[in-house]
Amino acid sequence: MDAPSVNAFIRIDKDSFDRLSSYVTQEYGIKLPPVKKSMLESRLNKKIKSLGMNSYVEFLDYIFSDHGKQTELFHVIDLITTNKTDFFREPAHFSYLSGEFLPSYLAEHTNLKIWSAGCSTGEEPYTLTMVLEEFKKRNPVLNYSLLASDISLRVIQSAFSGIYTLDRLAAIPMEWKRNYFLRSKTNSNLARIKPQYRKKIQYKRINLMDTSFGLLKSDYDIIFCRNVLIYFDKPTQEEVIRKFCTHLRPGGLLFLGHSESIMGMKLPLTQVRPTVYQFNG
Ligand SMILES: C[S@@+](CC[C@H](N)C(=O)[O-])C[C@H]1O[C@@H](n2cnc3c(N)ncnc32)[C@H](O)[C@@H]1O
Repeated sequence: MDAPSVNAFIRIDKDSFDRLSSYVTQEYGIKLPPVKKSMLESRLNKKIKSLGMNSYVEFLDYIFSDHGKQTELFHVIDLITTNKTDFFREPAHFSYLSGEFLPSYLAEHTNLKIWSAGCSTGEEPYTLTMVLEEFKKRNPVLNYSLLASDISLRVIQSAFSGIYTLDRLAAIPMEWKRNYFLRSKTNSNLARIKPQYRKKIQYKRINLMDTSFGLLKSDYDIIFCRNVLIYFDKPTQEEVIRKFCTHLRPGGLLFLGHSESIMGMKLPLTQVRPTVYQFNG
């Protein structure tokens, strides 16, 4: 093997691109059309060099070997996924949840099970925690449990730590920041979700392509799966949403991202707000 030059840019050849792209689409649902070639190169080249390799052929042979599957494939998924997220992203969803849906739903269901599927670095499940805790102050009968999942271990670990730079908290009202976060004593630019709220969330690595996600059926009142399916093709989106339906209680809600929709799909869901769907049961 030639020693890789630190500065050499490693191009992905067509066969390697096709091999990686088919694998990622089949296993994780994520589309990787040829326009994503340079994105892949910019994300993976550093990894390849750090392994002392200088071609994609060599790299893919390694990550798909028995050893590579156990030690490197997780890191490759971390690099391939897009994890952009924010606190209070698409705020209308949270206003609808606490202002309209929960007040009536709570008349019949006081123990809510909520799932943030594709939770990235935790901003979505922690926003839900804050919204639910505030609602609970006014409606103490509410009990809830929150599951947050993602395919990328790196983002799950980051979510679990609950640590954010202060600029990430800009969308959170000042009083809520005081109630739900602690400033770091050693780094004035960091804050961490208080332990009692961090502990409310169970984190799990779940691949949305898995047959039943390893979860009990008909168990969830609310599923958030926002800005995840956008990376899948239409038939795969429909398949995943159909599986979500088997995990929702009748009357429960599915929240999708702003550019996702179930238009053209035959599903037992009724739209109640833009990108918010109720399971008909
Ligand atoms: C853009 S982020 C969305 C985060 C958050 N839901 C939001 O709307 O702000 C998409 C997340 O979906 C995850 N993801 C992609 N494919 C997945 C799969 N097959 N199973 C589970 N999570 C997946 C990615 O790792 C990423 O963290």
